[in-house]
Amino acid sequence: MNTKIYASLKSIASFVPNRNVSNKDLEKIVDTSDDWITKRTGIEGRYFAEDNQKSSDLGFEAAKIAIHRANIKATDVDMIICATLSPDYLAMPSTATIISYKLGIENKPAFDISSACSGFIYLLSIAKAYIESGMYDNILIIGAEKTSSVLDFRDRNTCVLFGDGAGAAVIGKTNEIKKAIVDVHISANGKYANLLMTPMDSPFIKMKGNEVFKLAVKTLANDVEEILKKNNIKPKDIDFFIPHQANLRIINAVGNMVDIDSSKIVLTVQKYGNTSAASIPMAIDEIYRERKLKNGDLLLLDAFGGGLTWGSSLLYFNGS
Ligand code: COA
Repeated sequence: MNTKIYASLKSIASFVPNRNVSNKDLEKIVDTSDDWITKRTGIEGRYFAEDNQKSSDLGFEAAKIAIHRANIKATDVDMIICATLSPDYLAMPSTATIISYKLGIENKPAFDISSACSGFIYLLSIAKAYIESGMYDNILIIGAEKTSSVLDFRDRNTCVLFGDGAGAAVIGKTNEIKKAIVDVHISANGKYANLLMTPMDSPFIKMKGNEVFKLAVKTLANDVEEILKKNNIKPKDIDFFIPHQANLRIINAVGNMVDIDSSKIVLTVQKYGNTSAASIPMAIDEIYRERKLKNGDLLLLDAFGGGLTWGSSLLYFNGS
C-alpha cells in the first residue's frame, strides 16, 4: 500500500536589515505625520536595507537560517523559489538563482514568481504541488523584498506603507496530515491590475489605496471563511492567524468578520510595515523566535496584493 506524501513546513526564518526608519524620520522627507500613519495603518516604523544590500542579500540571510533550522544541508535543497516585487535585476537573472549560488547550491532549479504581496501563499502552493507529486523532497521558498528600491519618496500615498526584509522556509514531506500543509488556496483577477502597479514608465509602486483597502477586506474575509469551511475547521481550532501585514485596519476588519480571537492574530505591521512577499514568513518567524510557535500548531494564513492576487492557507507547523 502506498503511503500518501504531504508537503510540510519544516522550518521558518527571517532577516531584517539594520536601518530603522521611524514615522518621524519620514516626516522630514515627505508631507506626512506620525499621527496620520499610525492611525490609518498601525505602522510605527520599518527597516530599510542599505544602498549596497539587495533583495538577494536579505533573502540569502533568511534562507541560511531556514536551511539550518530544517536540519538539512544547502545541497539537500532540490529547488529554490523566490517571491519578490523588488528583484535584484529587472528581468534577469532571477533573484532565486543569485540566492541559490550564494548558498553554494549549483545545478538545481531556481526561479522567481511575481504575485506581489501574495507571494508567500503562491510559493506554498507551488512547493506543495512539487512535493506531493513526489518530484522533490526539499524546496526552499523565500520572500525577499527591498521595497525601498521601488518606492517614490515624493509620493506620501505609498512610501510610508512599506518596509524591507526577508522570510524563508523549507518545505519537506511527511506522511501525517497533522504535520502537513493541509490546504492552499490562490487566486487572481487582472481586472484590478491598475489599482496597484509599477507602471511601465516608472519603477515605483503606484496605488489606489482606498479601493485596494475595500477589496482586500471583502476578498480576504470570503477567502478565509471558504478555506475553513472546506476543511471543516472552526476559527477556534486555529492556534495562530497570520495575515499579510499591510494595514492594521485591514487585519482587524478581517479578524472580526471571521470571528478569530484577537489573541490569536499575529501582528508585526507596527514594527516592519508592509514587507510584501516577506511579511507572512517574517510574522511566522516572529512567534517562532518568541517561542510561542510549537510543533503541531495549526496556522491560518491569508494574503492580498498587486495583480490583484490573493490566497490563504491552513497548515500545521512541523519545525522544531
Ligand atoms: N500622510 C498624510 N496624509 C496622507 C498620506 C500620508 N502618508 N497619504 C494620504 N494622505 C491623505 C490623502 O491625500 C487624503 O487627503 P484628502 O482627503 O485631503 O484628499 C487623506 O489622507 C485620505 O486618503 P485616503 O487614501 O482616502 O485614506 P485611507 O483611509 O484610505 O488610508 C491607506 C490610506 C493607503 C492607508 C489605505 O487606503 C490602505 O491601507 N489601503 C490598502 C493599502 C494596502 O494595504 N496595499 C497593499 C496591499 S498588499
